[in-house]
Amino acid sequence: MPRGAAVRSRSAGPPAVRDPGETMETKPAAVPPSYAVPYARVGSTLDESDVEAVREVLFSGATLSAGPVRERFEEEFAAHVGARHALSVTSGTVALELAIRLLDLEPGDEVITTPQTYQATVQPLLDHDVRVRFADIDPTTANIDARRVAELVTPRTRAIVLVHYGGLPADMDALMRLARAHDLIVVEDAAHALGSVLNGRRPGALGHIGCFSFHSSKNITTLGEGGMITTDRDDWAERLRRVRGNQADMVLTARHGGFAGASGPPAGALYPGETYTHDCLRVRRSGTNAALSEAAAAMGLVQLGKLPGLVARRQAVAARLTAELAAFDTARVPVVPAGVEHAYHLFTFSVDARRVDRDELVRCLAAEGVETYLRYFPLHLMPEWRARGHGLGECPTAERSWFQEHMNLPCGPWLTDDQVELLAAALSRALDKATRG
Ligand SMILES: Cc1ncc(COP(=O)(O)O)c(C=O)c1O
Repeated sequence: MPRGAAVRSRSAGPPAVRDPGETMETKPAAVPPSYAVPYARVGSTLDESDVEAVREVLFSGATLSAGPVRERFEEEFAAHVGARHALSVTSGTVALELAIRLLDLEPGDEVITTPQTYQATVQPLLDHDVRVRFADIDPTTANIDARRVAELVTPRTRAIVLVHYGGLPADMDALMRLARAHDLIVVEDAAHALGSVLNGRRPGALGHIGCFSFHSSKNITTLGEGGMITTDRDDWAERLRRVRGNQADMVLTARHGGFAGASGPPAGALYPGETYTHDCLRVRRSGTNAALSEAAAAMGLVQLGKLPGLVARRQAVAARLTAELAAFDTARVPVVPAGVEHAYHLFTFSVDARRVDRDELVRCLAAEGVETYLRYFPLHLMPEWRARGHGLGECPTAERSWFQEHMNLPCGPWLTDDQVELLAAALSRALDKATRG
């Protein structure tokens, strides 16, 4: 009999989900000062090859800003993902900001997104006078539920912004069918999904725009911060190139008659015949400097080469934890469909809240020296979204999941075999202790 089964009849039932107001505790209150199995370190592994690549760039005498190393990183990244273009930027957050700019949203437009993600996925939408619709998640994957998305589409819907939660690709066949039927742009937040595969294709090339993060915790890193935008559209790539390089709307002044006129330079001044200016009035957009440095790109190239090994290690840790949980009918891991390779940026599982007290499980694991996280607090309950009229009850599955059911365990490739075994054993003991009855 699976463990946990015997206590079913004695279950008192889970407590009701209560509105937390603006409380967003995401960590257990009492934690030991250090963990035998910490949740996060650098998300990938670094070694002498990373250091050597950076050192080479630093002492090459060539530019440390935009240069050939960045270009090579972008080319190799585009080839890996299977997108026509890849443009590196300074973070995943910036990638998403620039991606949202490409949508050219107008007041009254609507965007459908997921509540189960890091805030950066939807944050840029706060800067637009648009209606954001949070579609609830599929309880079996924690990804946006395509059926809920379909219910929320209106004639004003312009885009779907989704995340491949934890690295498990979203239901892209259904979502892209919807996008084609309603002429929607699909932005993939693929921050977790570098290394994942869906039916032979990779996140970042499944929708229209892909956004990646190379933050220290991610599947690969570029000196701790960095990001990438992928797209097949040449016009978007060209626009992104200009915006990220402070050339939002660069035009030759010659097209506007140079500097001639009352405010122009004095006759005979040593200005070039043609020079660049910005034409912000024409396109109503500013530029920014979001360029990834050469040193960061050099590390990115080395890390990209190591990605298959890093993902394989994450998958091995996930397989061990999944096997441990298989002994409990009170716990379930996300369903990984055929044709999917899960990169396991996050290892997530859910408990049957009628039979297991999830918060007690968190405490028991902490007492065993295992650090856990709850990712992510349902975004529609964040103060900034409440202030826009969102609230409890809007996405019941995501709410129940965060408050009662799901949790994330350490899964980094840096975990030693001993740590993985310690984690697996602690998990079983903690699940036994946290079972109600
Ligand atoms: C799903 C998701 N989107 C976006 C981001 C933002 O990436 P960055 O930290 O590089 O700005 C993160 C990162 O932490 C993330 O987890």
